[in-house]
Amino acid sequence: MKRTLKQLALIAVALGLGACGEPKASVEELMNPETCLQCHPKHYKEWSGSMHAYAADDPVFIAMNKRGQRETNGALGSFCINCHAPLAVKLGLTTDGLNVADLPKWAKGVTCYYCHNAKSVNDTHNNPIELFNDDMMRGGLQFPVASPAHDSGYSELVDADNPKSSGLCGSCHDIVTPKNVHLERTFAEYQTTIFADPKPQQHLTCGQCHMIANDDVIASGNGINAPVRQLGRREHTFAGVDVALTPWPEMAEQRAAIDRDLKGVVAAKLCVLPNNGGEITLRLDNIGAGHMFPSGAAHDRRAWVELIAYDAANQVLFQSGVVPADKDPEEIGDPNLFAMWDKTFKADNSPAEFFWDVDRYESLLLKPAVTLDINDPRYDHATTHAYPIGAARTQVAKVTAVVKLRPMPLHTLNALVASDGLPASAVSNMPTFELEGTKLTWTPATAVNLCTN
Ligand code: HEC
Ligand code: HEC
Ligand code: HEC
Ligand code: HEC
Ligand code: HEC
Repeated sequence: MKRTLKQLALIAVALGLGACGEPKASVEELMNPETCLQCHPKHYKEWSGSMHAYAADDPVFIAMNKRGQRETNGALGSFCINCHAPLAVKLGLTTDGLNVADLPKWAKGVTCYYCHNAKSVNDTHNNPIELFNDDMMRGGLQFPVASPAHDSGYSELVDADNPKSSGLCGSCHDIVTPKNVHLERTFAEYQTTIFADPKPQQHLTCGQCHMIANDDVIASGNGINAPVRQLGRREHTFAGVDVALTPWPEMAEQRAAIDRDLKGVVAAKLCVLPNNGGEITLRLDNIGAGHMFPSGAAHDRRAWVELIAYDAANQVLFQSGVVPADKDPEEIGDPNLFAMWDKTFKADNSPAEFFWDVDRYESLLLKPAVTLDINDPRYDHATTHAYPIGAARTQVAKVTAVVKLRPMPLHTLNALVASDGLPASAVSNMPTFELEGTKLTWTPATAVNLCTN
């Protein structure tokens, strides 16, 4: 690790000239994503805006890790940073993540080298990934053209069409805390779904859903003559729910990818049942995700339904989940709230704000598809929520509904502003998404059998 970044850049430029016999990049150079930019500009650009790139620059991560280290007297150790800057931990550049500000840029986040040099995945959670530490970049190509920068090789761990690749993603997307609470369970949830079934006609890996395949060249520029590969270039935006809260590359592109992926994940159906004790029901069906919705950091996610019923004069008869921009959904005292997140508790049953405090959780998430057998009671995995409107039912002329999603609660962010110097702009920059596919308007005129269809 002796070379400076400037020297690395010069070497990358030299590589770019693509002269025959030019030495390949060193392991150190390959650990730097900037090296890849020379020949894989689209992969680099997409990744640079991703939460994988942002993971150790995220001010919420930095403040939360700082607070966690203090509150546990350092017992957290490398627990957090081992997933948010895994290469830096492997290289001994950090032991607790408290020095992230001093880490070189190339060692922060989940980097190209970390995935493309993976040797084995030794468990199902808490990042048990081992690296080769060599100069071969591994992927799913059977016959790559020669790369002037690195050796290339096939690995089922980084072949998105191979079921084993879900184990690579899943082993970081599944967290068992030091208190032995299985707090983030994306991989465990995935393994119960129809998508994890080995039958090829229904199998979908994490990568097949999250890394869209395009007809494109994989490497370009620098005199490289690589063919267009059919469905061969996979998108590297890794869009999910979180966004950069500080200036960061590709913010508009990330946001667009998030909106695209959130759009169809949940299907909704709204019914107004005047003869059923006066109920409005909303049925939400997680049709798109290969795990719960939301998933992973579900203790921090806030997904809820905003539902409003109007009379013929457009006066509000009933409402639920109308959350002001400066409040969290649990703060509005709404007994009818349709909430989708994990409620977390300490040992004394008081709410747990931070995840090192969590002793147990109550899960309110939308279930994924786990069977294709219509006779199996789990076939219908939708959640139906009833809103009691009583006598007002006879006056209902219109009902609107939409699922909203805020990546993190404001009170958690505000606590970090107060205790650990999180910039206040991180709170004001926190978005609230609306899931396009769940935006419904019910009227008697358009309803079929009393429901939106
Ligand atoms: C000087 C150009 C150059 C640089 C720099 C470069 N690559 Fe490559 N890479 C290539 C070429 C050429 C291919 C083969 C493309 C093809 O066959 O379509 C390739 C293929 C790959 C593959 C597919 C391997 C397989 O067998 O499936 C991966 C993964 C990869 N590169 C990752 C990286 C990463 C990560 C970096 C930065 C550390 C990097 N590359 C830097 C030129 C380069
Ligand atoms: C070394 C651990 C690690 C591996 C391996 C890994 N991830 Fe991640 N991933 C993370 C971390 C850490 C974050 C969150 C960064 C943040 O928000 O601060 C993340 C974020 C994401 C997000 C965005 C989540 C959100 O809510 O915004 C998606 C989507 C994602 N990863 C998918 C994948 C896929 C697909 C794979 C496999 C190809 C994968 N990850 C492999 C650690 C990993
Ligand atoms: C979280 C893990 C992860 C990270 C981080 C990551 N990749 Fe990939 N990459 C994959 C997976 C999985 C594939 C799919 C390979 C396949 O199915 O052929 C892939 C594919 C590729 C390929 C082969 C062509 C393709 O698109 O399928 C190249 C080249 C590549 N990545 C370069 C990069 C570069 C450059 C970076 C960093 C700027 C990077 N990757 C970061 C997991 C990752
Ligand atoms: C059948 C397709 C599918 C499969 C398989 C799948 N996902 Fe997802 N995933 C989705 C969709 C759709 C969303 C919601 C869109 C969004 O968050 O932007 C999502 C959301 C996510 C999120 C954000 C969750 C949140 O609420 O913060 C992460 C992280 C993630 N997936 C990781 C994974 C990992 C890791 C795997 C494999 C173990 C996986 N996914 C398998 C479709 C899939
Ligand atoms: C096993 C790997 C792993 C460990 C350990 C881990 N994280 Fe993460 N972290 C992730 C992944 C993956 C995501 C993306 C979650 C999602 O979208 O589902 C994430 C997301 C986040 C986020 C952004 C989303 C949110 O609100 O939760 C913050 C902040 C964060 N982690 C902080 C921490 C802190 C602090 C610790 C230690 C107490 C920690 N992480 C430990 C993998 C990890």
